[in-house]
Amino acid sequence: MMKSEEIIPVNLGDRSYEICVGSGILETIGVSLLKRFGVRKIFIVTDHEVATHWLGLVVASIKKVGLKYEVASIPSGEGSKSFYQLEGLLNQFFEARIARDGLIVALGGGVVGDLAGFAAAVALRGVDFVQVPTTLLAQVDSSVGGKTAINTAQGKNLVGSFYQPRLVLIDTDVLDTLPQRQILSGYAEIVKYGLIKNRQFFEWLEVNGKKILSGDTEARRTAIVESCKTKAAIVGDDEKETGERAILNFGHTFGHAFEAEAKFNGDLLHGEAVALGMMAALKLSKITGICNGQEVDRVNFHLQSVGLPVNLSFLDKFSGWNVDALVKHIGHDKKVLDGKIRFILLKEIGNSFITSEVDPNNVSAVISQSLEGRL
Ligand code: GLY
Repeated sequence: MMKSEEIIPVNLGDRSYEICVGSGILETIGVSLLKRFGVRKIFIVTDHEVATHWLGLVVASIKKVGLKYEVASIPSGEGSKSFYQLEGLLNQFFEARIARDGLIVALGGGVVGDLAGFAAAVALRGVDFVQVPTTLLAQVDSSVGGKTAINTAQGKNLVGSFYQPRLVLIDTDVLDTLPQRQILSGYAEIVKYGLIKNRQFFEWLEVNGKKILSGDTEARRTAIVESCKTKAAIVGDDEKETGERAILNFGHTFGHAFEAEAKFNGDLLHGEAVALGMMAALKLSKITGICNGQEVDRVNFHLQSVGLPVNLSFLDKFSGWNVDALVKHIGHDKKVLDGKIRFILLKEIGNSFITSEVDPNNVSAVISQSLEGRL
């Protein structure tokens, strides 16, 4: 029998919190918030799309326990991680007389979580916030670990802070209304955990991945719990990414470059970029002689078998992309240290490491191969 709720602790001293994973969590969110935080005024931040599916349920639950609330809804999409939307949100908070004992609830995907989290960090120098992620990608990655940010003209997540939520509530039911492409995008981040630190989990995904994608609730829940446990352990050891946390960026150095070139216009979802980036990083691990080809082929096979892209030839419109432009994007990555780009490479599935010693010619070679469909 499935337990009703699984609780994963994130151990960060006085900033510790719990991640609750289960079904029916939104329906009882009012009771959960009241029980954990007492009587606080709630500020729900959501986006227009999520609001149509889940806001009614959340508001009804909050009303039922008599808590006061306000709602701020932003346009859906990456474009909302902007100074403009941040200012709008802060204005709404202040007009509604937010106080230090207010509680911000981020109901949405990564965009809502990143923006609401950053607004919570800077409003009155810090108001408590709760993450209620509604995409698979946000459930297994962005809602956990306290990275909050907005984008600028120069790049993604360049303005932000580490600001931990007080609680993460993951309702697996919300995945039922998510388009399949979004599920697949989140699945790429799930595979990432197996690749960077948990070989056994990758092997489990090889057997159960298709169940996760086809809506098997128990498989989804197991994958979310395992991903969150892996992430919680890494964040617990290195909250501010001075060391090991960087392995969570596996595939992201290449992936962010691909997303930047695609101009975040929906042609390439974050998880798709991560899948492409993980294959590029694996190929780089292979040509530098660190990882054997069979391991790379095994990952390639799994990603393809679930329907994730493995090289840039998957969309015709990327065929005109230029290697130099992509390399330039990589140079702008936040992970550049002393002029050297840090890459996360794999020795084998489940065993990753961070290095700045990568030959730039190999980086260009890998990107060329991806563009030509030879990864
Ligand atoms: N998404 C990477 C991290 O949270 O560190």
